[in-house]
Amino acid sequence: MTSGTDALKRAAAARALESVRDGMVLGLGTGSTIRFFLDLLGERVRAGDLSTVVGVPTSRRTAEIARGHGIRISRLRAQPRLDLTVDGADEVDPRGNLIKGLGGALLREKIVAQASDRFIVIVDESKVVERLGTRSPLPVEVTRFGSSRHQAFVVGLGAEVALRRAADGSRYVTSNGNYILDARFPEGIDDPVALNGSLRARAGIVENGLFLGMTTRALIAAPGGVRTIEPDGTAAPGDTR
Ligand code: 5RP
Repeated sequence: MTSGTDALKRAAAARALESVRDGMVLGLGTGSTIRFFLDLLGERVRAGDLSTVVGVPTSRRTAEIARGHGIRISRLRAQPRLDLTVDGADEVDPRGNLIKGLGGALLREKIVAQASDRFIVIVDESKVVERLGTRSPLPVEVTRFGSSRHQAFVVGLGAEVALRRAADGSRYVTSNGNYILDARFPEGIDDPVALNGSLRARAGIVENGLFLGMTTRALIAAPGGVRTIEPDGTAAPGDTR
């Protein structure tokens, strides 16, 4: 049975698919919302009208799902410039800034998004926040070497920090061999640009889940329909495709 949230994720995914043309090179994000996008894209690949689309996946899981649908898969080395990346998010603010990485793929997701001409984000309405950091912790990917020092550094920035654990209780390790610190800011993130700068300047912090000024368009699915947020801060009611 499909839940209400799943129906919204699917609606956002279906809207994003309208931006896909045959022959495009697509960055393929990671997560449960992207799963719907891959399912819908796979239907069109098998139907033949998007059969020459090439996908660059951001995780092993996404690569497996895409392959299972018959979607051609490639790598950044072979496809240095992507037409479009479609990905989910954990939070979207009114200017289309994001927190990503609860699924653990933030580094590859950011690399692929930055290699793309356009970056479309698909979410259900529960992900929309006024201030980043109020709903989700900020995932921070750090080297294993010195991880307790990285944790202390992020605590010093005002966060409550937990080292991410896998389901079996062991330390979660990313596809890049790093740990993730989940940083909760009790009042949300006051100045995301400054926080991003502080994190980026620190040795051993590999990447963080703030995706600032990167979104071309966020598609927000609610029971009343899919609305868009454009990067200039305009939240457009209805379809502005
Ligand atoms: C993975 C991500 C995902 O895009 C994000 O966690 C959203 O996932 P979902 O669609 O399952 O809510 O950033 O690293």
